[in-house]
Amino acid sequence: MYTSRISGLGSYVPENIVTNDDLSKLMDTNDEWIQERTGIKERRHIKKGDGNTTSVMAVKASEIALERAGLTPKDIEMIVFATLSPDMYFPGGGVEVQEMMGMDTVPALDVRNQCSGFVYAISVADQFIKTGMYKNILVIGSEHHSGGLDYTTRGRNVSVIFGDGAGAAVLTRNETGRGGILSTHLHSEGKHKDELALPGPSTSYWVPEIIEKNPQENIPYYPYMNGQFVFKHAIVRFSEVIKEGLQANNLTTSDIDMLIPHQANLRISQFIQRKLKLGDENVYNNIQRYGNTTAASIPIALTEAWEEGKIKEGDLVVLAAFGSGFTWGSAMIRW
Ligand code: ACO
Repeated sequence: MYTSRISGLGSYVPENIVTNDDLSKLMDTNDEWIQERTGIKERRHIKKGDGNTTSVMAVKASEIALERAGLTPKDIEMIVFATLSPDMYFPGGGVEVQEMMGMDTVPALDVRNQCSGFVYAISVADQFIKTGMYKNILVIGSEHHSGGLDYTTRGRNVSVIFGDGAGAAVLTRNETGRGGILSTHLHSEGKHKDELALPGPSTSYWVPEIIEKNPQENIPYYPYMNGQFVFKHAIVRFSEVIKEGLQANNLTTSDIDMLIPHQANLRISQFIQRKLKLGDENVYNNIQRYGNTTAASIPIALTEAWEEGKIKEGDLVVLAAFGSGFTWGSAMIRW
């Protein structure tokens, strides 16, 4: 059986910075509330006309990842694209990336696991490499939230949290004789699917129905989040799935060199850090600058941590995510 390693990382965020003060001009909120509850200072939003879409940002991040891996689009044998905000209802973003990057007719798989999407995508790609089927797989997380949020006071508990951006990793068959992806661990619990969801437009709420009904009737075309419920489950599942990964590899929390948690909320990351007794140098957070970019948050944070020299050869890097579904997962990587 082969193993895989991350051979290249890249990220992209739109230039347009939206501060908490900017949002407070649109709704009844303020910088102090947002920073105290979430840690977020600012986020990036696509600006109409700047050319960005979920798939365009995915391509920008992927081009960097490919260059760093020393590969060209023709070397990629599969795309695994995680997003909850594809450019179109169908087809998914994977085929857009395939087309925009001029790749061969490689398989393009779309992963729909929201905040856990990137960890799910890494796990899928890892299996294809382990079996020997492919050598180089492009794994992407990209999200465009800003176009679909409720910027009135009604939507403030959700709209202040999310931001736009993309991250990408190239997974390559590990022929270095050391390290690589040690294991991945995935879970779901669909009974909580309504606690963090965007029910329409969908086959449950077709567009004509939404148009016909007055917004006051609460046809759910903006994301809904039961914040405290999500928070309580997130802190339990994050720790569980990190410990599950450590145990599977006979490791302990003190072996973790770098934890890259999904950037859901700084308070959640800090809670996990305390629970696992990790030092500040062992956990990477950038939600302060980008908000929660769901499937894109881990690859953006991983890319930045690597660019800043915070991940070194031989380090144990742990990716962990929790989100809508609920779904959660972890990946244990020996760098
Ligand atoms: N600005 C000002 N006031 C606000 C805002 C806002 N943006 N949003 C909500 N409030 C108000 C509420 O209306 C409420 O007012 P009330 O007491 O008069 O009714 C008050 O603040 C408290 O509201 P809660 O929703 O109870 O606030 P809470 O302390 O739970 O914080 C938050 C909300 C930040 C969303 C929190 O629940 C949380 O972080 N939950 C975790 C969910 C999360 O991180 N989601 C990210 C996406 S999911 C994921 O990635 C895993």
